[in-house]
Amino acid sequence: MLTYIDSHAHYDDEQFDIDRDELLDRLHENGVRNIVNIGCSLERSQFSVDLAEKYPFVYAAVGVHPEDAPDTPDGYLSKVEFWTANPKVVAIGEIGLDYHYEGFDRELQIRFFEEQLDLAERSGLPVIIHSRDATEDTMNILRRRGRVKGVMHCFSGSAETARQVLELGMNISFTGVLTFKNARKAVEAVKVIPLDRLMLETDCPYMAPEPYRGKRCDSSMITRVIDKIAEIKEVSPETVAETTMANTLRLFERMK
Ligand code: NI
Repeated sequence: MLTYIDSHAHYDDEQFDIDRDELLDRLHENGVRNIVNIGCSLERSQFSVDLAEKYPFVYAAVGVHPEDAPDTPDGYLSKVEFWTANPKVVAIGEIGLDYHYEGFDRELQIRFFEEQLDLAERSGLPVIIHSRDATEDTMNILRRRGRVKGVMHCFSGSAETARQVLELGMNISFTGVLTFKNARKAVEAVKVIPLDRLMLETDCPYMAPEPYRGKRCDSSMITRVIDKIAEIKEVSPETVAETTMANTLRLFERMK
């Protein structure tokens, strides 16, 4: 049985309301060493912290996602900062920029991103970065900071962007999207990323890998991503699982 870490999941999602507890127990009995539940808003960050306190193998990330920034009150940062003192909180995230949907407020997103990057630096915690249709702004903001302790999540960029992210000192993580037939660009990116800089995630309940595409995703489906990376890197699935686990434990220092 493979043992692995799901570094990015959303078990607070209502799609898990019917079976969250049984599912988490079953996943942990079947190879999922740890799960990081990701905060997107203040409410969902609180849910992540509560889940992490309930389950020893679950950890939390806290923060405000760019799409949630417009609905988040001023003063949010002191709340996020309060959570950083909790030993089960391993990262600030997911934070970043998302220019996908029309009507986004670029200035607001950038302000939230910068404020939370500052907080991460102050608290010594790594960041989990979400960047969609915003590569240029994201990379410019990160580059101004020199080195960044963190991970670029659900990576969908080119091999060239991957190289730039690696230069910042960050890890790169992939979801089930890597298994999609049209994922040629992501496959090329995996080729240039050293195995010791890769991380695994589901982003569940979204991004279910083939052959489950469109279904509710859970952490067990990461084995498909492991197999795909093993195939690209020409190593065994065990090597992928073990190395990515070590990478995750190195980045999320509070994870045991
Ligand atoms: Ni996510």
